[in-house]
Amino acid sequence: MNNAVKEEIKARLPVEEVVGRYLELKRAGRNLKALSPFTNEKTPSFMVSPERNVWHDYSSGKGGDIFAFVMEVEGLGFVEALKLCAGWAGVNLDLYSSASDRELAAKTKRLREILELSTKYYQHALIHKKAVLDYAFYKRNLNKQTLKDFRIGYAPNNGDALCKFLQSRGFTEQEAHDAGLLNRRKTDLFRERLMIPLSDQNGNIVGYTARILDDKIKDAPKYLNSPETILYNKSNHIFGLAQAKKAIIASGYAVLVEGNMDVISSHQAGVPEAVATAGTAMTAGHLKGLGRFTKDLRIAYDSDAAGLKATERAIILASGLGLHLRVIADYGAKDPDDLIQQDPKLWQEAIEKPKPAMEWLMDEYAKRFDVASGAGKREYADAMILIINSVPDEVERETYRQNLATKLNVKSDILAKKSQELLKPVRRKQVQIEKTDATPLPIENMLALYAWLEETNQELFNRLKSAEILDSHSETLYTRRNELALRAESRYSGWSDERLHQEVRMLTSKIKEEALGQSRADLQLAIEAAEAEGDTETVDLLLAEMNNLNNRKE
Ligand code: UTP
Ligand code: MN
Repeated sequence: MNNAVKEEIKARLPVEEVVGRYLELKRAGRNLKALSPFTNEKTPSFMVSPERNVWHDYSSGKGGDIFAFVMEVEGLGFVEALKLCAGWAGVNLDLYSSASDRELAAKTKRLREILELSTKYYQHALIHKKAVLDYAFYKRNLNKQTLKDFRIGYAPNNGDALCKFLQSRGFTEQEAHDAGLLNRRKTDLFRERLMIPLSDQNGNIVGYTARILDDKIKDAPKYLNSPETILYNKSNHIFGLAQAKKAIIASGYAVLVEGNMDVISSHQAGVPEAVATAGTAMTAGHLKGLGRFTKDLRIAYDSDAAGLKATERAIILASGLGLHLRVIADYGAKDPDDLIQQDPKLWQEAIEKPKPAMEWLMDEYAKRFDVASGAGKREYADAMILIINSVPDEVERETYRQNLATKLNVKSDILAKKSQELLKPVRRKQVQIEKTDATPLPIENMLALYAWLEETNQELFNRLKSAEILDSHSETLYTRRNELALRAESRYSGWSDERLHQEVRMLTSKIKEEALGQSRADLQLAIEAAEAEGDTETVDLLLAEMNNLNNRKE
């Protein structure tokens, strides 16, 4: 769908009208307020801004335009939500969709052709480069069939070889760029790398993940991934699904691993159910995609600290989506590929012994707290109960509580009581408001402040803006501008320029402090709390911030 239709519907259908179909709205200054439909709050913190045509729910952290609201409240996908809104607005979608859909379809077709051609080009280059073939055969132990199945290739080291080749076949530089194949200097993005195509579930190539050939080179990333394009969406791309689909359906389960090489090795080692997220953290989108094929997921991430964290995150995401996740833990190697290099049989056996997620979590958390002491037991119980409470099924929750009681050697009704306390709406609300309103992340506040100032007080905005902060968060600022501005307005309206100036100084120094690593521990705690609540959006934000801190220190 094109933007024109979205804008036309929005123009005819004010946000307060759409929200008003579901919620009772009350005036609150220039905005409207309601009780959040997404939490069971007692004080309204769901805000609607007729001026900006957006909504923001402080209790859940959700927000956006009319389509985002209908998607959330009706549980619909974007297209369905758009159709529903079009009906209310009296907009005839046929008038819009035919031309733009045709355009998009034509463009998609061209990009697919480019990527298909590039893949053939890379495959051809591999066959003629003995050193790289040797790397694939002898260093990675991949056989010919595997190279063929995954269409592995080689990007040569000469500046714009691919780019020139594509142009000789009638594709423009713009098209090569739109397919994600060019760098900023408009020459080949991928050079001197092993090319691993990323494909959709039908085998159409959508991008690449490209491995460096010489591990001694330290100033380049080990894997270079395609940028997002109209074909490639990182947050829901499942690597290896085209190759694994049939096996997943036949066996009734999928094996989730961390690396692309783990997937490829696994297929060759007789476990063709393996898939991965390519170079990005697991999202609900990935899990929903996989959930269409099976509800039985076995996760075998790397056995380092990052792998443990990612496993925990996946468990919490999966439990909210009604998927049955189990963990292949302590399999005795750094990653599945390493285990396979020792002996493929070991990997085949490992995937037969998955540990139920909750059992795995209980053991993992027990390592983090001093469960021999009373205080340690309490902390451990609190952490576990928060997670147990996120499980949708009551019988399952009760079972886990009983297991926990046995493990801690306390009566199970003590845990039931504790669980009730943690679930109390009042308490929940306090926690949520603390998280999203009273003490939001300084960076969130700063972005909100900038978004609002840029719109209401250009002069002050220009005086105060910090290029460094704006640059590194420009994407957030761009996509969430309205929502951020709304948030800032309820916080900052009526403040004098001087006070705003002070606030910017305070936020800047807070942000810098964090960059120096002083709040790393806080951040870690916040991540754990948000993960326990299954609030992936906040987790992602926090993780991104943690990455920033680490990068800045170097
Ligand atoms: P690892 O560093 O564990 O790599 O990253 P690996 O899978 O064991 O790779 P090999 O065996 O050395 O070839 C795990 C995953 O993280 C992503 C990739 O998806 C990789 O498979 N990653 C890693 C990147 O996207 N970029 C990087 O620079 C490094
Ligand atoms: Mn590896």
